[in-house]
Amino acid sequence: MTVETASTVMKQHLIDPEICIRCNTCEETCPIDAITHDSNNYVVDPEICNSCMACVPPCPTGAIDNWLQVLSTEAYSLEDQFSWEELPAPKELPADAVLQDAPVAEAGAEAFPVADDSQSELENTPFTSAGASIPPWSAAHPYVNLYTHKNVATATVVGNYRLTDENCDNDIHHIVLDFGTLPFPVLEGQSIAIFPPGTDAAGRPYHARQYSIASPRDGERPNYNNLSLTVKRVTTDFDGNPVRGVCSNYLCDLKKNDTVKVIGPFGNTFLMPNLPHSNIIMICTGTGSAPMRAMTERCRRLTKDKAFNGKLMLFFGARTEHELPYFGPLMNLPKDFIDINLALSRAPDKPKRYVQDLIRERAADVRALLKDENTTIYVCGLKGMETGVLEALKFVVESDGQQWPEVHAQLKAQGRLHFETY
Ligand code: A2P
Repeated sequence: MTVETASTVMKQHLIDPEICIRCNTCEETCPIDAITHDSNNYVVDPEICNSCMACVPPCPTGAIDNWLQVLSTEAYSLEDQFSWEELPAPKELPADAVLQDAPVAEAGAEAFPVADDSQSELENTPFTSAGASIPPWSAAHPYVNLYTHKNVATATVVGNYRLTDENCDNDIHHIVLDFGTLPFPVLEGQSIAIFPPGTDAAGRPYHARQYSIASPRDGERPNYNNLSLTVKRVTTDFDGNPVRGVCSNYLCDLKKNDTVKVIGPFGNTFLMPNLPHSNIIMICTGTGSAPMRAMTERCRRLTKDKAFNGKLMLFFGARTEHELPYFGPLMNLPKDFIDINLALSRAPDKPKRYVQDLIRERAADVRALLKDENTTIYVCGLKGMETGVLEALKFVVESDGQQWPEVHAQLKAQGRLHFETY
């Protein structure tokens, strides 16, 4: 234990405002509410943070993983951090400075421990997020942060198509961006972020907004240096009040040959397995279909070359068929290639269905896949479905006499259960 003096030094946990894409993952993950934000930055409260590291693995960009040595009497306040455009340079420390013991989550715990998702939920650890913090072991190695705020990539719009019927509320677009000769390697499940033009109410340039990539690693068009996004035009807030989504409206209105400012790629866990006999269970709603389209298309191209023979099972939730992005192409896929289950919640003359209802209905088949260690599950879409999906998976497992906490912990430890919800 270090006795605190004027020259005691602490490792202050900070978030790099230049890399952070304001996705809110860290704030949601922090088990002790040490992370907060304003309209400018996400920040860590030095009075609360205990260096438990729970927030580090889920951060898609690595912006969270910054530690600056400062005199403990001169830790950067929340106000300091809110005002930053970039991290401050390290300060010179007195020669007699003594590094303080890091505060820890629990007495006796290791300072700066590595989050261990293999522990059972029953042990009540702070690292009990629903999904894995590691990718499936066979996943290809992703590139992340190749382009940052200081080194922004420019892409050209080569296509922008409305995916949903003209006369329905949901206006969802398929947007294709081409990087020309600029290297922009991506994997299915990764995301990029885009800077909308203009400034916020305080006159600061808008922050970049994150979107999942909807195309496979070899391009929207095979062997082209391009990728696609699935973007829903935001016209209301969570409470249904009218609001104009800054970046989604910008993207949905883009014309061919317009250019956009891009950073990324991001994400090193929501990645598909890289084995020919992998099975993939995909559960999504609305634009959460983007990474599922990327993975399905990757498998479809591999199947053509006889390089993939695993099972694909998709649970896809939408209001009606007309509001389901990629409905036509999805329905044209062979039944022996992908097992498609559509959960329509507002289809006329049909009972309301959510994805979790269909998972229960297909329990025997889901269970058979889950028992195979080559199966990975991906969940993407509305935050609200997370609990429902977990409960449905619990039902699937427990109706066969197995214990969900054990199966759940194993799925996470093996990088076989992944969530991306918003
Ligand atoms: P709902 O008709 O109740 O809104 P959206 O079109 O808003 O992106 O939503 C996609 C689909 O997800 C819709 O069918 C919507 O149904 C459904 N949904 C809404 N809440 C949940 C939830 N908690 N779990 C699963 N699906 C949900």
